[in-house]
Amino acid sequence: MKMIRIIIVTVIFLLAGCAENRTTQDDKEQFVDSLLAEMTLKEKIGQLTLYTSGWTITGPALDSNYRKYITEGRCGNIFNAHTVAYNTELQRLAIEKSRLGIPLLFGYDVIHGHRTIFPIPLAEACSWEPALAKKSAVLAAKEAAASGLNWTFNPVADLSRDPRWGRIAEGSGEDPLLGSLFTAARVKGYQGDNLSDSNTIAACLKHFAVYGAPEAGRDYNTVDLSMRTIREVYFPPYQAAIDAGVSTVMASFNEINGQPATSSTYIEDILRKEWGFDGVLVTDYGAIAELIPHGVATDSAHAGMLALKAGADMDMQSGVYMQSLEGLVKEGKIDESTVNRAVRRVLRLKYDLGLFEDPYRYLDAQTETEVVHSEELMDHALEAGRRSMVLLKNEPYKGKKILPVMNAPARIAVIGPMADNRIDMMGSWHASGDAQMVVTLEEGLKNRFGNADIRTAMGCGFYGNDISGFKEAVRLAEWSDLVILAIGENYVQSGEAASRSDIGLPGAQQQLTETIVKTGKPVVAVLFAGRPLTINWIDEHIPAILYAWQPGTRGGDAVADLLSGEYNPSGKLSVTFPRNVGQIPIYYSTKNSGRPFNPDDKYTSKYLDVPNEPLYPFGYGIGYSEIRYSDLQIDRKVISFGDTLHISVTIENVGEYPTEEVVQLYTRDLVGSVTRPVKELKDFRKVHLEAGEEKTVTFALTADDLRFYDIDMQFVTEPGDFHVMAGPHSAELLTTAFRLER
Ligand code: GLC
Repeated sequence: MKMIRIIIVTVIFLLAGCAENRTTQDDKEQFVDSLLAEMTLKEKIGQLTLYTSGWTITGPALDSNYRKYITEGRCGNIFNAHTVAYNTELQRLAIEKSRLGIPLLFGYDVIHGHRTIFPIPLAEACSWEPALAKKSAVLAAKEAAASGLNWTFNPVADLSRDPRWGRIAEGSGEDPLLGSLFTAARVKGYQGDNLSDSNTIAACLKHFAVYGAPEAGRDYNTVDLSMRTIREVYFPPYQAAIDAGVSTVMASFNEINGQPATSSTYIEDILRKEWGFDGVLVTDYGAIAELIPHGVATDSAHAGMLALKAGADMDMQSGVYMQSLEGLVKEGKIDESTVNRAVRRVLRLKYDLGLFEDPYRYLDAQTETEVVHSEELMDHALEAGRRSMVLLKNEPYKGKKILPVMNAPARIAVIGPMADNRIDMMGSWHASGDAQMVVTLEEGLKNRFGNADIRTAMGCGFYGNDISGFKEAVRLAEWSDLVILAIGENYVQSGEAASRSDIGLPGAQQQLTETIVKTGKPVVAVLFAGRPLTINWIDEHIPAILYAWQPGTRGGDAVADLLSGEYNPSGKLSVTFPRNVGQIPIYYSTKNSGRPFNPDDKYTSKYLDVPNEPLYPFGYGIGYSEIRYSDLQIDRKVISFGDTLHISVTIENVGEYPTEEVVQLYTRDLVGSVTRPVKELKDFRKVHLEAGEEKTVTFALTADDLRFYDIDMQFVTEPGDFHVMAGPHSAELLTTAFRLER
C-alpha cells in the first residue's frame, strides 16, 4: 500500500510534467513538496536521522534499535551497512513496513576503495595525477554501488601542515592547489554525470571546516587561525568540492575560532550563502550531542536547536534530533519550516539518486558478484599503488646503486612487521577492504623475482620493546644477499583518534633497523605509514629508501614493481617531512619573517639544534634517472593585468630509464599590503621522458593566478615585482623575475 502511494505521487507528476513543459527541477520540487505535505513531524525528523547499522564501528556510540526506528519511519538513513543482501533487508523494512515507504540512504566511509583498497589519499596525492584519483573514485563508487551503497563520506578535503595529526593520511597533503585538484577529482569520480546512475554514488565533502589544523596536532582539538590563513590555505579544497557539485557536506568535530563546526555560522554564511551550497549537511558521529562538552549547549535539546538552526540537516548517530526536535517544534522553539528546509534537502538527494523510482536500484546481487574485486579494480589498485609511492633516496652502496634490482640476487631477506602483513597494507579507513585479497610484500617480491630465494622475519612488532625476534632477523640478514626492511606504522597508528607526539618508527623498529644495518649487508628500506615519519637515522645510514605509504590491496606487487625497475618511481611528496616534531608546523609556503635565517647572524630565525629545512621538502621525489632542469624563460619582463605571462623550462632525462617527471611552477609576490609566502605552487605538469629525451615544458599565468586576501580581506592581485620559479620540488627551483603593472 505504502509503495503504491509513492508510485501514484510519482505518476501524477510525470503526467503533469508531460502536460506542461516543466523542467526536471520542477518535477523534483513538486514531488518533494507533495511528499512533504504527506509527512507527519515524526516522519520528517526521521529523514534527518542517520544511524550506524552496527556492522562496522566508526565511532563511540551504538544504538541497536535502528531496525525498529526504520519500520517506524523514525530513521530514514543508515551507514556502515553494506552488501546487497543486508541492505536489501533494511531497504525492504523501510519500503514495506514504514507508513510512507520512503527509501533509505546507505552511507559508508569509502575513503580509498570499498572492498578493493587503493592507496590512502595522502599517498595518491603524491602521484600529482588528479585523473588517477578520479579513476580511483569512479571504481570505488562502482564497487560500493554494487555492494548496496549510494553515499560515501568522502572526499576528505582537510589540508594539514602537522603530521602528528593521524588523519593527515586521509587528505591530500598541505597545499591548496594540489588539495583542490584532488578533492574535485574525487567528487567527480564518485558522482559521475548522473547521480541516479547505478554506478555512481553521492559524495560528501568533509570535514567542514579546517579539521586538519588542531592545536598540538591532537585530533578533535581546538582550531584557532586567522581568517586570512583559513581562506587562503584551508578553504580552497572545500570550495573546489562545492564547485565540482558535491551533493553533501559533513561538519567537523572541532571548533573553529570559538564556534563548534556543527553549529557554526560558517555553515549559513560561507558554505550556503557565499559558496552557494544547498545540499544536505550531515554532522559527524554524535557531534550534535558534543555541543554540550564544547560548552555552547546546556542540554541535548538546546544542542539540537543550535545545530538545526545553524543548518545541520542530518544528525549522525547522536539521536538528538529524533529525541528533541518534536518537542522543540511544539514548544515553538523551532519553526517547522526549519525542519522542512532540512527534510527537502534529504528528499531531493534521494530523488537525485533515483531511489524513489527504484529503491532497489543499488541492490542487485548479480552486479555485486561481477564487480567486487573485478580485474579492473585489482589492476587499478596496482597502478595507483605504483604511482603513489615516493623514492626518497637511491645512493650507491659500496660503489653501486642497489636500485633498481634488475637481476634479483639469489637470496633476499624481507625483515620487519610489514614483511608478510596484509591488513596494515590497507591503511586506515579501509572500511570493508578484504585483507585476504591483499598482496603482501613477500608475495609481491616472489611474483616479481620468481627465481630468488625470498624469506621473511618479522623482527619485532609495532608496539613495545620486545626484541626477541632480533636474533632470527639477524641470522636471516646474514644468510641473504640483499635485505629489504619492511617497516613503519600499522593501520591504526594513523587515521582517526591516532595523533602521535613522536612520529618516529613505532615499537622497537628503529633498534631493529640499526641492528640489521650493522650486519653490513646491502639494505633497502621500504616504509609503510599513514603520515610522514621522522626517519633521520635511516636517511643518514641506508642508501635506498622507498616510501610506500599504505598502498592497499596490490601493495606488495606495487613495491616489487618499483624495486625491480618494472615501473620507474614518479611520486613526489604531497606533504613536508619534518626532522622532528619540534619543527611542526612545517610546510613549504612559509613567510619570510623580518629576520630570515642567516648563518652569519645569530639574531635570525633558527633552532640551536636542527636546521630550519625539513628532512624532505614538499614536492620532493626521485626516480631512477636524473632529470636536468635548464633555461627557465618568460616571454616578457613586464605584464599588465590583462596579459598572460608565458613561461617555459627545459628538462632532460640524462639517465638510462624512461621517467615521468612532475615539473612544478611556483611564484613569489615580493611585496604586498600583507606579508606573502616565499613561494606558492601555481601549476605542475607530469611529463614522460625517454632516456636521453629533452622537452620544453610551458606554463601560463595571468594576474588572477596571483590573487590573495589583502589587508582589507579582499581577494585581489596587487601590482609589483614577482618571482616565478620552476623545478623538481619546492626546495630546488630555477628563478626569474617579472613585474605586474596596472
Ligand atoms: C567518524 C569520522 C568521519 C566518518 C564518520 C562515519 O567519526 O570523523 O570522517 O565519516 O565518523 O564513520
